[in-house]
Amino acid sequence: MKKISKILITGGEGMLGSYISSGSRFSREELDVTDINQVEKILRTDKPDVVIHLAAITDMKKCEDNPDLARSINEIGTYNIAKIAKEIGAKVIYVSTNAVFDGEKVGSYISVDLPHPVNVYGHSKYMGELAVLGMDSKNLVIRTSWIFGGGKNKDKKFVGKIMPKLIANETFSAVDDVKGTPTYAKDLAVMLQKLATSDTSGVIHITNSGSASRYDMAMVIKETIKSKSQINSALLSSFGLTGNTLKNEVLDSGLYVLRPWQEALKEYIRIEWK
Ligand SMILES: NC(=O)c1ccc[n+]([C@@H]2O[C@H](COP(=O)([O-])OP(=O)(O)OC[C@H]3O[C@@H](n4cnc5c(N)ncnc54)[C@H](OP(=O)(O)O)[C@@H]3O)[C@@H](O)[C@H]2O)c1
Repeated sequence: MKKISKILITGGEGMLGSYISSGSRFSREELDVTDINQVEKILRTDKPDVVIHLAAITDMKKCEDNPDLARSINEIGTYNIAKIAKEIGAKVIYVSTNAVFDGEKVGSYISVDLPHPVNVYGHSKYMGELAVLGMDSKNLVIRTSWIFGGGKNKDKKFVGKIMPKLIANETFSAVDDVKGTPTYAKDLAVMLQKLATSDTSGVIHITNSGSASRYDMAMVIKETIKSKSQINSALLSSFGLTGNTLKNEVLDSGLYVLRPWQEALKEYIRIEWK
């Protein structure tokens, strides 16, 4: 392990970035990764040893509707970061996604499986991976999936969407025929900071352990908060989401696996949704 003195985080005010306690976190307003002049100015001034690059457009529907925007942030923005980081000698740790895979595999995806993105978000993130890996052999790509975190103010994903329904004891449906690997942003952030002080490079997967459907996650939360909601198990096709949605989003994290997702999810709900 070598000691790293300085970490810079892009997308630092997002769901995952907010949990990173060491280093300088830059919001989109402070560092827009699509603006290479700004990237150059800030990286040369801040002189980080490691850039944890989280800035991205993560809304899959927005990416499908605006492929040029997805490309400019997730692909060109990542290229800008990788290029300037290389010039100043900094390592890049880039957080990527299971969406680089097509979801057709039977069983969980390992880090050496061949990416084959089938939607705009997945494609733009994969191009980002290639930029990071091609720029410098010391760079690290970390794929993860189904992040939850942020609490009431920042959780715009599945958990954040169903919490008000569970609190109000409403009846709702959740997809049960697609599985992913739920991952607590807080757990991942701890691991990112550890890896920032290591020489780990290439591509790895990091998730909480186990796999789950959205329905499974909803049931764990229901039990945790003792909600009286009725949750119906539903098929993905009943939501009318087809074509660019994936059937299998499960990642195998090998050596980098975190604690079980159920334990992490219960802690998140108890602590951050009090
Ligand atoms: N959420 C998941 O389930 C998941 C799964 C796998 C991988 N990831 C990856 O993990 C990383 C962090 O995701 P997250 O869940 O924390 O997403 P998030 O909450 O949407 O955070 C992304 C951040 O990037 C910022 N951003 C957007 N465009 C930018 C630009 N041009 N320049 C600089 N910053 C910009 C956003 O700012 P604004 O809010 O102001 O737009 C936001 O603060 C992303 O790279 C994502 O692809 C996420």
